[in-house]
Amino acid sequence: MSKTSLTIGIVAETAKNETRVAVAPQDLSRFAGLAKDVQILVEKGAGKGAQFTDKMYADAGAKLSTTKQAWAADVVLKINMPEAKEVANLKKGALVISLTQGANADKVFKAVEKQGAGILSLERIPRTSRAQAMDVLSSQANIAGYRAVLEATQHYGRFMPLMMTAAGSAKPARVAVLGAGVAGLQAIATAKRLGAVVEAYDVRPEVAEQIQSLGAKFMDLGIEEEGAGEGGYAKELSAEGKKKQQQALQDKLATFDIVITTAQIPGRPAPVLVTEATVKNMRPGSVIVDLAAATGGNCPLTVADKVTVKHDVILVGHTNYPGFLPADASAFFGRNLFNLLKIMVVEDKLNLNYEDDILNAAVLVADGKARKN
Ligand code: NAI
Repeated sequence: MSKTSLTIGIVAETAKNETRVAVAPQDLSRFAGLAKDVQILVEKGAGKGAQFTDKMYADAGAKLSTTKQAWAADVVLKINMPEAKEVANLKKGALVISLTQGANADKVFKAVEKQGAGILSLERIPRTSRAQAMDVLSSQANIAGYRAVLEATQHYGRFMPLMMTAAGSAKPARVAVLGAGVAGLQAIATAKRLGAVVEAYDVRPEVAEQIQSLGAKFMDLGIEEEGAGEGGYAKELSAEGKKKQQQALQDKLATFDIVITTAQIPGRPAPVLVTEATVKNMRPGSVIVDLAAATGGNCPLTVADKVTVKHDVILVGHTNYPGFLPADASAFFGRNLFNLLKIMVVEDKLNLNYEDDILNAAVLVADGKARKN
């Protein structure tokens, strides 16, 4: 019998276009400190997409492992929803921690139950102050907001800042950010750093102050309906409110060069903010970066994972911006996981206390049984 008190598996991602890994090598020592005699099993090649070599993990104390070995740990750490055939490697009583979006969710949960194991859904972690350090949706949306602006600059045929040169001057780009949550606020900050003139809009009026504190202007569309929902999220507008919003944006966005859309309502398809009529109204060469492409898009013309041109406007629909910055995105993801594990490992063992609101909300299956949460 090994005297190891806790084994942690870091497994490779299999999703298309995924370059990240759940934990970066520089953070292994944090995980090693979670309990006495922690063994970290890293699947060979898991960090390849993020330029983390096997040697980096081995030097940081990991045991390089086969797929099966890494999946047979007490806790398995992963980014994307696992496949049913992967969870068939879980041992009884083990827990896999990952995002759980995907069409196959029910099939995977059933497969986890069959193994007598459990699954913690990272999307279910509540957006509370205490859980902030564990919230992968926020850490990754922050990266997406930053990268979305850089992506816009790649497709925009003009300067971002005001340029005054001997050959003449150029006006700064006008950037509109729609939805000023985590991704939106980072997009505003990034566009400002590049010298653009930025205006931002959100249905939650309380974000106006945050927008202004970043040096941007709050775009007032004159819609009386407020969209503040629960837990810092938005609620859906009425049909009339939606129409008014789309109409107001149709006129407004014609004066912008770059539009970054980040509007979302949890559990609902992305709200349509930029209609085809609005796109037609925009200047040729304008760029729309639609962060909500994976959930239908804030613009119905966006094609997920593609860059397309419609009515002379460039529409960017990438769905994994964090994957464009895999080293930092993996490091943030891993630190979120470490902060989560800190509340789960008690006296050198995994101990799931459901009196804790975070664990109660996020553990969907435990010891082979679906939980009612
Ligand atoms: P968030 O919930 O923090 O922010 C969304 C904001 O949209 C909120 O402030 C909300 O009030 C606002 N909103 C909702 N309905 C609106 C409407 N009708 N008009 C104006 N504003 C409205 O969400 P977060 O974390 O910033 O994510 C934003 C989006 O980016 C989500 O769709 C998310 O899935 C996506 N995302 C995309 C990534 C990619 O690689 N493409 C990566 C990470 C996130």
